Amino acid sequence: MPRALIAANWKMNKTAAETAEFIRALKPHLPAPANREVVLAPPFTSLPAASAEARGSGIGIAAQDVFWEKQGAFTGEISASMLREAGCSYAITGHSERRRIFGEKDRQINLKTRACLEAGLNVIFCIGETLDERDAGKTFKVIKKQLNQGLKNIPRGDISRVAVAYEPVWAIGTGRTATPGQAAEAHAFIRSELGKMYSGNTAAQVRIIYGGSVTPDNVKGLMSEPDIDGALVGGASLDLDSFVRIIRS
Ligand code: PGA
Repeated sequence: MPRALIAANWKMNKTAAETAEFIRALKPHLPAPANREVVLAPPFTSLPAASAEARGSGIGIAAQDVFWEKQGAFTGEISASMLREAGCSYAITGHSERRRIFGEKDRQINLKTRACLEAGLNVIFCIGETLDERDAGKTFKVIKKQLNQGLKNIPRGDISRVAVAYEPVWAIGTGRTATPGQAAEAHAFIRSELGKMYSGNTAAQVRIIYGGSVTPDNVKGLMSEPDIDGALVGGASLDLDSFVRIIRS
């Protein structure tokens, strides 16, 4: 299994100056433990400053979104190769806020994910059920569809560059995290679906990370579950001490 992935999703928080200041303050706490890979996803406008400040530190930089076309008349959009030029090694696709607030569908998320892989970016591909879907007993059905459609036509050779982030929508930003047991059950299901889509061996190489109200206090319990290979951290990644505690957990 590759190193566990600890990724910070800053959403629409921190200016470029604040981003650089955070990374400067983070560097003395690095390198991260050898079994951890650390990635920060600041807003687009912070990406060049983040990659300049992170150079040589081992911190990876991620974009929070991407557009699938390479160039052209797509006002407001940014391509995968532009993200590479800005210093990104990762992009996030399929975040539930993009799905819910901006109406993104599985097909668009699939195009974005494929565009990233083709351009040489790694991907943090997010899936997860809403509370209504969980209460209706549809959790596995929903995440199976998101996986099958979101990863459609992604060849076996590329899938190890995708980390699947299981983020139950009801746990994001709510302080109501999934229990380690609930998360482990979903992660085991995701691993078995990936095994059907690819092979058991290939599925074992894909990192499946958990997101949704991860904190320094609950991260250890979550990550000690067998199929939980890291964390995608929102709110608790904005504070340096809290993020350092998560990296070192
Ligand atoms: P949260 O966000 O940690 O604030 O719940 C996680 C995410 O949206 O990726």
